[in-house]
Amino acid sequence: MAEEMLLRGGWTNAGKVVRIGDTVRRPQCPTSAATHAVLDHLERVGFPGAPRFLGVDDSGREVLSFIVGEAAIAPFAEHVLTDDALVSVAELLRAYHEAMASFDPAGHAWPPAVPPAFRDGTISHNDPNLDNVIFSKGRAVALVDFDLAGPGSAVWDVACAARLWAPLRHPRDTPEQLHEQSLARLRIFVDAYGLPERDRARVADAVLHAHEWCYAIVRSAVADGHETFGRIWHDGGREHAERTGRWIAAHREQMRAALDTAAGEQAGECDAAAIPSDSRLGGRGGTGTRYSRG
Ligand SMILES: Nc1ncnc2c1ncn2[C@@H]1O[C@H](COP(=O)(O)OP(=O)(O)O)[C@@H](O)[C@H]1O
Ligand SMILES: [Mg+2]
Repeated sequence: MAEEMLLRGGWTNAGKVVRIGDTVRRPQCPTSAATHAVLDHLERVGFPGAPRFLGVDDSGREVLSFIVGEAAIAPFAEHVLTDDALVSVAELLRAYHEAMASFDPAGHAWPPAVPPAFRDGTISHNDPNLDNVIFSKGRAVALVDFDLAGPGSAVWDVACAARLWAPLRHPRDTPEQLHEQSLARLRIFVDAYGLPERDRARVADAVLHAHEWCYAIVRSAVADGHETFGRIWHDGGREHAERTGRWIAAHREQMRAALDTAAGEQAGECDAAAIPSDSRLGGRGGTGTRYSRG
C-alpha cells in the first residue's frame, strides 16, 4: 500500500488525518453516517467542491477522495488573504448550499445543533474555517471536513465564514494586511454570496451566536481532555476567544451598517471608524499570525 502522509491543518483530528495515494483517511465520529449521506448527496448532484465518500478502511477510518490544491493554512500564501480569494469562498459556499437544496435531512443523527433561530431546513457546513477550504490557482475550489455539517441555514454559514475570513475580531489577532478591512470584507463576502435582504439584517446577530456556538464546542472538547484544543485553549486561546467575543459584541452596529445596502458605499470608511485606535497598537500582524477559529 502507498505511504501514509500526515495532512496539516486539523484540529479535532490533528495528527490523525492522512493521505494515502489519491485518498484521505480520517477517524469516524458518532455522526459520521449523516456526514457520509451529505457527501453521497453532493456526489449524486455532481457538486465538485467536496470530497467523495469512498467507504471505510480496515482500520475503521473513513476514506475520502483527496482534493488537489492547498488548504488555507498559516503561514498563508499571499493570495489566500486577498479580496478575490474571499469572493471565491463566498461563491463556493453558495454553490454548496445550492447543491444541498435537494437533500432530505430526515432520519439522520446530526452533530451539535445550531441555535433554532438559525435552522431553516438547510444542511449547512457549519465549520468553514480557513483550513477547511482548499484552494487551486488562487480560488477556493472545495470545502473539506464536513463533520459539523447539520441542520442550519445559509445565513448561519455566511456568518460563520465571514467571522473567520473577514476576519471579525480584534486587530491584534488579525493579519496586518487585513487591518481596518474587517467590515469592508464582511460586506464583500455577503455581497459575493448574494444573501437575500431579509438575511443580511440577521448576519450581525448570527456572527455573535456563531462565535458562542463554536466556542461551546471548543470548551466542551477542552473539558473532555482533547489534547490539541486543551493546549491551544491554555496557550492564549481562551483570551483570544474572549477578545473576539468582545469585539463582535462591540461592533454589532457597525456590522449592521456595513451590510446596509442604502449605506453601501461607506463600508470601507465604516471599518476604519469601527476599530478603536488603542487596538491598532500591538498588532502582531503578518501571515504567520494565529488566524483561525477565534
Ligand atoms: N479530502 C481532502 N482533500 C485534501 N485535503 C484534505 C482533505 N481532507 C482533509 N484535508 C486536509 O487535512 C487537513 C485536516 O483535515 P480535517 O478533516 O479538516 O481535520 P480536522 O477534523 O482535525 O479539522 C485539512 O485542513 C486539509 O488540509
Ligand atoms: Mg478541519
